[in-house]
Amino acid sequence: MPARKKLLLGNWKMNHTIAEASAFCDSIKDTKELAKERGIQIGVCPSFLSLQTVKRKAKGIVVGAQDVSAFESGAYTGQVSIPMLQELGITWALVGHSERREYNGESNEVCNAKVKALVSHGMTAVYCCGESEEIYEKGETNAWVENQIRTGLKDLTKDDMKNVVIAYEPIWAIGTGKVATPEIAENVIGYIRTVIKSMFGKGVANRIRILYGGSVKPGNIHEIMLKPDIDGALVGGASLKADSFRELVANL
Ligand code: 13P
Repeated sequence: MPARKKLLLGNWKMNHTIAEASAFCDSIKDTKELAKERGIQIGVCPSFLSLQTVKRKAKGIVVGAQDVSAFESGAYTGQVSIPMLQELGITWALVGHSERREYNGESNEVCNAKVKALVSHGMTAVYCCGESEEIYEKGETNAWVENQIRTGLKDLTKDDMKNVVIAYEPIWAIGTGKVATPEIAENVIGYIRTVIKSMFGKGVANRIRILYGGSVKPGNIHEIMLKPDIDGALVGGASLKADSFRELVANL
């Protein structure tokens, strides 16, 4: 099985002004070195407004957008296109974060259009999935997540899948301090890998990186990352401060 490089990605959500993002970049030099030593890929997803600053200042890390339009240009007030991101040298974007699904009504079909647009431009899509507490309690997590994966990644080729990362984030664990146990996370992520295998074959399933997200902290990241199917983390709150971000890298 090919080795999958661990990935630690911070999702800053609607936090950090340009000045704050810039200060973060000033204090991560040793974190970058530590990540390099440990063979971990690291990155952050700032607001659109901070992308240019972070891309310029934080050399050598992944800098991703938190969302992107599926359209090239046109009458889409408030949206940001792929060519606009590419002009800044941005080659990664999150797609379908649960907060966008909930507050902006993004369906699996809309996410599919975004993922397809990104990969067709040679960009990397971090496709987010995850169930609500209600679905979790009903024991319907796997079916829910399978539908998100099958619809969101519909019509992609094996080659396209080289530019896709999946993030499993149970909604009930996001920002709640209620982290999924490593066993729960591993079970769902293992299941996602079997769905990917049935869609794209064994090679893609073995190669694709699947992250866990939801209340990941320096104190719990290690035990979660010990699980064989979990290839890294998508971290909100604990990625905002440079010290905490460094600790995540140190403990991963
Ligand atoms: P928290 O780490 O703050 O729970 O957020 C997780 C998340 O939504 C990352 O995308």
